[in-house]
Amino acid sequence: MARRVLVTGGAGYIGSHTVLQLLLEGFSVVVVDNLDNSSVVAVQRVAQLAGEFGKNLAFHRVIVVSCFVTRGAETGFWFDIRDKEALEKVFATSKFDAVIHFAGLKAVGESVQKPLIYYKNNIIGTITLLEVMAAHGCKKLVFSSSATVYGWPKDLPCTEESPLCAMNPYGRTKLMIEEICRDIHHADGDWKIMLLRYFNPVGAHPSGQIGEDPCGIPNNLMPLVQQVAVGRRPTLAVFGNDYSTKDGTGVRDYIHVVDLADGHIAALQKFFEDPNIGCEVYNLGTGKGTSVLEMMAAFEKASGKKIPLVMAGRRPGDAEILYACTVKAEKELSWKAKYGIEEMCRDQWNWAAKNPWGYRSPDPPN
Ligand code: NAD
Ligand code: UD1
Repeated sequence: MARRVLVTGGAGYIGSHTVLQLLLEGFSVVVVDNLDNSSVVAVQRVAQLAGEFGKNLAFHRVIVVSCFVTRGAETGFWFDIRDKEALEKVFATSKFDAVIHFAGLKAVGESVQKPLIYYKNNIIGTITLLEVMAAHGCKKLVFSSSATVYGWPKDLPCTEESPLCAMNPYGRTKLMIEEICRDIHHADGDWKIMLLRYFNPVGAHPSGQIGEDPCGIPNNLMPLVQQVAVGRRPTLAVFGNDYSTKDGTGVRDYIHVVDLADGHIAALQKFFEDPNIGCEVYNLGTGKGTSVLEMMAAFEKASGKKIPLVMAGRRPGDAEILYACTVKAEKELSWKAKYGIEEMCRDQWNWAAKNPWGYRSPDPPN
């Protein structure tokens, strides 16, 4: 019997790529998403890309009609993991071997403006999920944490033992959820939890059928770059060129989203193979730092497009340099990122060229 995994936020950027890899690895997958920052088209395309394995995918919009909210210009009903009754129904119809929990809000600037929305969605959503999991005896969780928990690190590379320091409400939700997970494992050793700290996921599936398509104005570098490349934006603002780095611009550890997705499979396999797993933390990165200008050069090479740059001031809350020590994941999960920035930019561009308006573009050719 195929192992069954619940994936919250599985219609989103990292979630959709992970769901595809899960299906291809023979898992049966149930996706729960409120489509707050994603499109149902992503789930449909994942099912197509999975070929014969696509039949092992189910999608639930978790419907909560009691939660009527206004968020930015959007007012409407949310479909939300905080709806305990709806989640109960999902758990009542399927027995899950594990849950991968991606669902959450992730825009740092917005979290500073509207902290309560972030605490409510990310923290309450996670607590509700954990309660329902416990009630149904499903106590294996993979959680999407972030390198943001390292703040502005003094020592590099960041190891899993580096000091933690969140610099904004979004980051604090990640830190708090990590602490909640440590506490529930401490209270009940049946819980097996993987806290995966992602560095900077970029790129897209090599097919060009799925990729990142955030609703509204993107916050992260590469979705903005791809919008410049397809003519949706005139320029890219470079946030700071006076850092103590090789060319003055910020340095990050970019990781191909397919490598990141595979890291989740490795984490799941560890659950099923190692009975001694407790509550563990792993960095998922490449261990290599790349500056904004280096990334722009790689993207221009991959796409043949010029990205006009405007030097802007530093973005508040930005760290200067951030990259991962990847030894622990390599050793304990037998996982290592395979792709470099050339492949990341190639696949980012392939997705952008085929889907200039994201999932609102006409279906690209196969
Ligand atoms: P994403 O916005 O593309 O995906 C998140 C998904 O969760 C979306 O499909 C959204 O509709 C859904 N969602 C949000 N709140 C929900 C709720 N209450 N109920 C049901 N569905 C809900 O983001 P992503 O880039 O795929 O990130 C996935 C996870 O990884 C997030 O938790 C994010 O904080 C974390 N993360 C992302 C990055 C990154 O750079 N992309 C880095 C570190 C960590
Ligand atoms: C950001 C968040 C981090 C979050 C992560 C994933 C901030 C301060 N940090 O990380 O908490 O976990 O996204 O969602 O928002 N850059 C530009 N111009 C741009 C955009 C970015 O020069 O228009 C630069 C940034 O200064 C940085 C690099 O590109 O040096 C990467 O930025 P980004 O993709 O936003 O990721 P992080 O800043 O690492």
